[in-house]
Amino acid sequence: MKKPTRQMVPALAILALSVAGLAVAAAAAPPTRRGQEVHLFEATVRVADDGVEDPDEYNYRLLATVLGSVEAAQNVTYETYPGTFSAFLTNNQARRLSKVPGVLEVRQRDDPVPTDGQ
Ligand SMILES: *[C@@H]1O[C@H](CO)[C@@H](O)[C@H](O)[C@H]1NC(C)=O
Repeated sequence: MKKPTRQMVPALAILALSVAGLAVAAAAAPPTRRGQEVHLFEATVRVADDGVEDPDEYNYRLLATVLGSVEAAQNVTYETYPGTFSAFLTNNQARRLSKVPGVLEVRQRDDPVPTDGQ
């Protein structure tokens, strides 16, 4: 068997460093966890001006394309107005909502602070 050569030592050191680097990167950014974080998001939507659909129903229907049902959309909606609504969504759901046709913008709002009724 050959003795380790002088050139092998730096190569092993680089290998050890890159393995350590990968471990640190994996610990610092768990991608699935961030996607599951829930925040309050505000969506700006194109207003249908044909007047045939209730604006709230329209908002729920857009959100339902991501959540699966109008009922689920109503459950997570915080506020709804013609042309805009806010809802508690995961980062992944917010990203998918931003790609729904009719949705102009989705941005994170500050999570509301619970009030004691004052
Ligand atoms: C909506 O909320 C109600 C009341 O908490 C619950 O019974 C129902 O299962 C929820 N529906 C969906 C689709 O999440």
